[in-house]
Amino acid sequence: MILNNCDRLIVALDYTNLNDVKKIVTSIGDKVNVYKVGLELFLNTRGEAIDYLHSLNKKVFLDLKFHDIPNTTAMASLFAIKEKVFMFNVHCSIGVTAMEKVVTTIKTSNSNSLCIGVTVLTSFSDKEIMEQFKTSLNASELATHLAVQSKNAGLNGVVCSPIEAKKIKNLCGNDFYTICPGVRPSFASVDDQKRIMTPKDAIKNGADFLVIGRPITKSHDPIKAIDLIINEIEEGLLLC
Ligand code: C5P
Repeated sequence: MILNNCDRLIVALDYTNLNDVKKIVTSIGDKVNVYKVGLELFLNTRGEAIDYLHSLNKKVFLDLKFHDIPNTTAMASLFAIKEKVFMFNVHCSIGVTAMEKVVTTIKTSNSNSLCIGVTVLTSFSDKEIMEQFKTSLNASELATHLAVQSKNAGLNGVVCSPIEAKKIKNLCGNDFYTICPGVRPSFASVDDQKRIMTPKDAIKNGADFLVIGRPITKSHDPIKAIDLIINEIEEGLLLC
């Protein structure tokens, strides 16, 4: 797949109802092509947000982070495939067997949906990772390890922090996508994200797609926030 520069910004629609979604998506117009539908929006709209975005020819990143045994995860993936989403994700920690089963399901369905592995949540600090998982790896090292496993299982890319994006692309190849939350422009607050970078630095550091929510959706001027972020993305691309 050739990466369109106008697809690089994915706006996370973390809302509880479709009216708020319609308001912001309408006001953003052609500036953004890809939207993230996560658990909050998917559950509260009973999935209706997907149909709404597709009716506007927008691409959907279905961020439900499947995490279950191989058969259940593959069956859940069939839902994403059937909905023809642009991309959906599974936790890498479901293991290689389960990831391979999802990849087989996609292939036998002749689907174009990209399956992305979630490595380490960007809200985890190194200290929390080491304590939670009783590992000596820091967050970036663990994310890189999981990325290599998911590449070997046939996934199309990973959700990771921009901090490890370049390393992951070097190890897994340029066509293995890095989808990066934990992006904070200098004008925005950090919120609960811990491992963060600015949009410009994230792109420079190997991020293919930036998933950004609150710096846009909680801004008093979301359009201005988007314009500033797109400028930063363009600046970052010049430095790649
Ligand atoms: O508001 P904010 O920009 O922090 O939103 C980031 C989005 O990316 C959220 O919707 C969150 O669920 C998602 N995400 C994340 N870290 C991951 C995977 C997804 O923050 N590892």
